[in-house]
Amino acid sequence: MTDFQGIINSIHDHLSKEEVKGVVASYIPELSKQSVNSLGIFLQHLNGDSFAAGDADIPFSIQSISKVLALSKAIAFEDNRIWQRVDVEPSGNPFNHLSLLELENGIPRNPLINSGALVVADILVTHLKNPKEDFLNYVRTIANDQTINYNKDVAASEKRTGYKNFAAANLLKSFSNLKNNVEDVLDFYFHQCSIDMTCAQLAKAFYLFANGGKCVNNVQQIPVSQAKRINAIMLTCGFYDEAGEFAFRVGLPGKSGVGGGIVAFLPNNFIISTWAPGLNPKGNSLLGMQALEQFTTQTKLSIF
Ligand code: DON
Repeated sequence: MTDFQGIINSIHDHLSKEEVKGVVASYIPELSKQSVNSLGIFLQHLNGDSFAAGDADIPFSIQSISKVLALSKAIAFEDNRIWQRVDVEPSGNPFNHLSLLELENGIPRNPLINSGALVVADILVTHLKNPKEDFLNYVRTIANDQTINYNKDVAASEKRTGYKNFAAANLLKSFSNLKNNVEDVLDFYFHQCSIDMTCAQLAKAFYLFANGGKCVNNVQQIPVSQAKRINAIMLTCGFYDEAGEFAFRVGLPGKSGVGGGIVAFLPNNFIISTWAPGLNPKGNSLLGMQALEQFTTQTKLSIF
């Protein structure tokens, strides 16, 4: 039996001593308040066991990780029609890149870059009666945790400085790939990104992707076939222009956020989440990626 607790403890202790920890995101001013020294790791096994190390119970801003949760809800409304409005190809570009969007006539490369996530947000604004309230309830349901919430300060902070997202939303609108008002879609999107979760909550929220669409309380939330598709998109697009590097070094589908979180999983086996706010130049958590690389190397557990 693998000594998961021993392994994540030793990875945590070793990485805490690293001198190069990356740079905390500051383009959303509220995020710059985070400490570069925070480091949490949480492992949720599908057999019910869980293991925590370091700051695994401190809430942080999940940011782009929310894009996967939003996608899973949007697919429930649109099924495969969604792929007429957003593609499933890796972009090979940063998460907020704009020129491809114009070149490709307003069809985002995939739903995990910002422009694609804005199309997904538009779908949710169209279908949900009270979009922000209903989406939060969905996230609480799949994580089986009613305490999860938006962080209003983070949402407001991004609204004040999210110039590239305003540009992306306007570009999408000019190509008729946003049905709702730009302001309404952005307000929803900034809120979904502002959700705070701990590593432990994050691992539980992603349980359904590792478990064929059944969430942590065993309710089938999305069809198996859609879980398969979403997982493929996480593997190929979850880390933007570092998706190849993440697959190469870690070998798991997953998703990162500029708050410093990463969640990854081995289908039918476990979900692992990390939080370390220092980012590498591609906007992914520097120590988080190292932790996951060490974890899959030491346990020999990856999809490959
Ligand atoms: O739209 C943005 O720029 C942020 N709300 C989310 C970006 C993000 O998390 C990219 N991930 N690594």
